Amino acid sequence: MDFFEAVEKRHSVRNYSDKEVGEEKLQKILAAIERTPSAGGLRSFHVEVVKDKETKDKLSEQTFGRAGFEAPVLLIFLADLEISASKYEERGRELYCVQDATIAAAYSQLAATALGLSTVWVGAFHEKEVREILGAKENEKPVAIIVLGYGK
Ligand SMILES: Cc1cc2nc3c(=O)[nH]c(=O)nc-3n(C[C@H](O)[C@H](O)[C@H](O)COP(=O)(O)O)c2cc1C
Repeated sequence: MDFFEAVEKRHSVRNYSDKEVGEEKLQKILAAIERTPSAGGLRSFHVEVVKDKETKDKLSEQTFGRAGFEAPVLLIFLADLEISASKYEERGRELYCVQDATIAAAYSQLAATALGLSTVWVGAFHEKEVREILGAKENEKPVAIIVLGYGK
């Protein structure tokens, strides 16, 4: 699928089958994320890959609407407030790290679409609780949950 077809085809899917996401496809999506631009090349974000049902269920409870959390994979994009701040101070902490994470999440959706997978971006969640469930640090701000799988 070419780039423009992927852009055209991407749309939010909120109901998923239990068909697994193959490891090769998942690695391709993670590789696409590695290619994203970031402020100063600092890549001030982290991606958590969640597959286990218990964690997905806990995360689902902290979202509004619970869109598609039965999907096999969740990608959680966390902005790291300190990496970008180390070079760009307030602008890095307040803005660049969130932009870095956002760009990466957007790439993941397009890469998934190009691989025949479906996604939905979930931004409506309790940030503190999501951070705690993931065991993330205080300086890691969950920005987006990308639900990933095959639509029903
Ligand atoms: C920043 C952001 C936050 C979003 N949060 C949610 C959400 O919490 N739940 C949800 O079901 N969809 C969410 N979406 C998906 C949008 O509703 C969806 O992209 C929009 O309605 C356009 O539809 P499309 O993705 O099919 O083109 C979010 C999208 C973005 C970019």
